[in-house]
Parts: sequence; structure tokens; C-alpha cells
Amino acid sequence: MDIRNGQIYLEDVPVTLLAQTYGTPTYVYEENRIRANFRRALSAFKKYYPNFRFFYAIKANNNLAVANILRQEGAGIDAASVNEILLAQKLGLGGDDVMFSGNFLSDEDIRQGLESGVIFNLDDISLLPRVLKYGKPERISFRVNPGYGKSDVGDFVTNAGPDAKFGVHPEQVMNAYRMARDAGIKRFGAHMMPGSCIRDPEYFKFITEILMDLIGRAAAELGISFDFIDLGGGLGIPYRHGDSYLDIDKAASLVAEVFTKKIAEYKMTPPRLMMEPARYFVGDAGYILGTVHAIKDSYRRIIGTDVSMNTLARPAMYGAYHHIYVNGREDEPRRTVGLCGQVCENTDFWVRERELPQGIDLGDIIVVENAGAYGYAMSYQYNGRLRPAEVLVNGNQHWLIRQRENIEDLVRNVTVPAHLQK
Ligand SMILES: Cc1ncc(COP(=O)(O)O)c(C=O)c1O
Repeated sequence: MDIRNGQIYLEDVPVTLLAQTYGTPTYVYEENRIRANFRRALSAFKKYYPNFRFFYAIKANNNLAVANILRQEGAGIDAASVNEILLAQKLGLGGDDVMFSGNFLSDEDIRQGLESGVIFNLDDISLLPRVLKYGKPERISFRVNPGYGKSDVGDFVTNAGPDAKFGVHPEQVMNAYRMARDAGIKRFGAHMMPGSCIRDPEYFKFITEILMDLIGRAAAELGISFDFIDLGGGLGIPYRHGDSYLDIDKAASLVAEVFTKKIAEYKMTPPRLMMEPARYFVGDAGYILGTVHAIKDSYRRIIGTDVSMNTLARPAMYGAYHHIYVNGREDEPRRTVGLCGQVCENTDFWVRERELPQGIDLGDIIVVENAGAYGYAMSYQYNGRLRPAEVLVNGNQHWLIRQRENIEDLVRNVTVPAHLQK
């Protein structure tokens, strides 16, 4: 993003042109920024541990155009559901390029997960006998709850520790791998996902050490070796201006240092090191463009836009902060206002107080930052408000990569029984 003569550009395309061409609300992704984010992180981790690979957690942004950028850069796919395995297949990825980390799976999920031949990552020890009913995978990985989790984007997004629904309890880890070994499984992996949006490099070292102690002990006591160890996602981005960036080089060097130290301590065959971020790659490369449609002066001034809780769920869902720019007005003095969307819920009053340009007016275009991850993917149709369009920009080129929904999308899959049609 860039501001030139007061006008906001995404790569080299003015937001006014994007809004005119595609309407609002519209998600826009910067291709070159996604690539730069990925390359920065990959080169850092590979520098300190060459046998390293990223799997992109496609749940954060499942547009196939976006996912193909990351595939081209060399990422595998982390799939949270069978349908995400199928999405990966649409990218031409399967087998060892895809990791299936579903949780609380149905028998049908298990059957399809096994049949797909991707890496199967079990969220609980109780899944093992259920998986074995359908077949014996060559390799099994367990998602470990290391007993500690952290989130910089609110407690709702803490994915490990005592209050999380995910992963194998730390005291059950040994038993889980023992059961798998005794069932004749020969190859193993390990996984965790303890942190969300973490910008402190020391945290990654801390959590790697915990996992490696659990896994190292299992390797030593059970005489098994690990093909890979996946540290999950959680590489953070700053949402608030003034917050620091994650020092990715430092995170990579600290992780590699403790990883290699623990490999030596437990005399492990060095496994491949993996991570499966999403936010770090696509979060700050995505924006949502909206239009100011109404302004109300009530207990305070409220700016009404078409960026609603159904379009961008994070603020209403867990109080997430997103910076907002107003095109053409960034140089103006500020005034404290509120800002909301158009959904009939007061949680859609998603900015209660913010210093925005004082002249903000009807027809202005707002640009909401850091919307590339968990943005469109979490959008929904409440109030008959439809999902927005998605656009990709690269230099001065732009492409529609998902059409805006229309009324047909609202009634798709609905049938009205004959007696109700009279
Ligand atoms: C299992 C798993 N892996 C990876 C991710 C990606 O996390 P992030 O976007 O914080 O990197 C998530 C996100 O919730 C997840 O649940």
C-alpha cells in the first residue's frame, strides 16, 4: 500500500479505480507482498535449518488464486477439513505436500482423510483406533497440546493449554506414540499449534523447547524416529500502528538453535522442520475496500460503511483491531468518531471510537488494513448481506478472483416444499 498525492494505491492501482471497477465491499490482495512475506520467512528458516518447509494454512484465505501464489513459492497445504484437502487437490497438491489436521473428526472424515493419502495429523489419542479401523497409514503424526498457549489477538484464539479443545494432552503423548508403534506404524511426525499472532521471537524458542522435550523423550524411550516436526503457525504481524514487527530472522535462529540442541540431546535422527503459518504470508497483503454510505450524529458521530461484521468478522467476533484509512483525507486533522457496518446487530458497531479524518463524508472510500487472513474466509450472509468480491493486484494489473455474491447465492440449496408454494 502506498499513498501518492493523497490517493491510496494497492501496488500500483488506485483504490478509486478498484472501487469503481469492482464495487465495494471488496477484498484486495497484493501478490508481490504475499511473495515477499513468504520469501522473507522461508529464507530465514532455511538459513538456520536447511531441511525446512512451510505448509500454508489455507483456512485463513482459501481463494485458489492466493493459494496458488504460495504453491508457486513452494508451500505445501495445511488442511483443517476434508474439503480443504480437496482444495489442495485443486492446486495440484496431495500426498506429502498436504497435512490434514482436522479435529473432532467424524468416521467419514477419517475415511476420506485416509483415502486421500495426505499426511494424517491426529488431534487425539482416541482417534488412533478409529483410524486403524479403516486402514494403517504408513505414517502418523499427533497434534500435541504442549500445555501452554498464547495469543496476541485475544484469548479466543489461544489454541493450546488447559482451555483449548485441541491436541493430545502432554501426559498422553508418550502413550499415543507407543500405541501407534505397537500397532505397526513405522513413520512418525509431530505437530503443535500453540500461538496466534506472536511477535516475540523468544516465544517460538520457548514453545519449541517444550515440544522437543516431549517428542525427544518419546523418540528415546520408544526407539522411534520422526520424519518431521511441525511447529504450527502463529508468526505474528502488527495490527496496530506502532506495534513492532516480528524479527523473523531472530525467531528462525532461536528455533533452529533449540531444535538442533534437542535433537542432539535425545540422539534423534534430524527430522524435517515444518511450520504452517497463514497470517504472516497473507494478513498484511490484504485489504478490504468500503464506501461511506451514511453518517449519523447521535450520542456521537457514527460513520456507516459497507464493511460490516458479515464481511469482516474479526472485530465483532473477538474484538480485533484493524487500522482504517480514508482515501484522499489522510492529511486532514482528526476527529473522534465511531464507525459501523450495515448489519442489524450492535456488534457491527465495530469501531466505537477512532480518530479519523474530520472531513470524512458520503462516498469516501475506506481501506481497512491487515484483512488478508481470516477476512473473506470468515465472511457470511447474515441479514441477506452477501459475501464481497475478491481482487488480486500485481503492479498496475488487477483481476477479479472471486465474484461478489448475488441473490441466487442466498437461495442456493434451498427448497420450498410444494405445500408452501401455494
Ligand atoms: C492448526 C493450525 N495451523 C496453522 C494455523 C495458522 O495460524 P496463523 O495464521 O496464526 O499462522 C492455524 C490457525 O488457526 C491452525 O489452527
